[in-house]
Amino acid sequence: MTSLTQPQRPQRYDSLSRALHWLMALGFAWIFSSALAHKFFNESAVDNFLWTTHKPVGLLLFIAVLLRVIWALLSRNRRPAPLSLGASLGHLALYLLMLAVPGLGLLRQYGSGRAFEAFGVQVMAATPQASHKWMVDLGGNFHSLLGWTLLVLVVGHIVLTLWHRRTPATDALPRMLG
Ligand code: HEM
Ligand code: HEM
Repeated sequence: MTSLTQPQRPQRYDSLSRALHWLMALGFAWIFSSALAHKFFNESAVDNFLWTTHKPVGLLLFIAVLLRVIWALLSRNRRPAPLSLGASLGHLALYLLMLAVPGLGLLRQYGSGRAFEAFGVQVMAATPQASHKWMVDLGGNFHSLLGWTLLVLVVGHIVLTLWHRRTPATDALPRMLG
């Protein structure tokens, strides 16, 4: 029964949440392609092309996830109710890694003291006198490791979404489609 103080939660995500989800999924497909080409086809033509886009696309994803977190918090009472505790925890882990992975990449970039330009815009100026070894080490130790962990979680997220389509009660895909 629907109470007067607690309106029923919607059946679908709002259009901004859906747009951010699918645009970022495209961005992640791109950036993971660049990482896979860099690891397995190093110095190939595909790697040489895709790798030049890794940092700029990573920066865009970092900005997009900040917006997405703010929107998720602001609209938390207007989103479909979680299907299970497992789904909530899985989505939380995706959010934490979506923040940590590009965050660590940018931290290492800043700590290196080297200039960083993306899409023709200077994002970080060169500060060779003020490099920070701990930032470089933290990024060096965890950026790639957590990046591959995120890829594993994303594959699991997609497989579980398709698996749950078998039963209408657990089919979450319509909630994320337009
Ligand atoms: C969500 C965004 C990002 C994801 C998922 C991601 C993922 C990855 C992965 C999986 C690797 C390992 C590639 C390999 O082993 O060859 C990697 C390497 C690297 N990433 Fe990212 N990355 C992201 C954003 C960024 C950003 C924003 C920067 C810097 C501004 C960055 C800089 C680098 C660098 C320099 C490497 C090479 C590291 C090395 O050779 O040790 N990444 N990234
Ligand atoms: C083909 C690719 C993908 C499919 C089919 C897919 C499917 C879905 C579906 C159906 C939901 C709604 C789940 C529910 O209501 O319980 C969802 C939510 C979510 N997805 Fe995906 N997804 C994909 C890619 C991704 C990627 C690449 C990421 C992040 C790296 C991601 C992160 C999330 C998160 C954090 C949520 C929770 C809702 C939100 O805050 O937006 N998804 N996804």
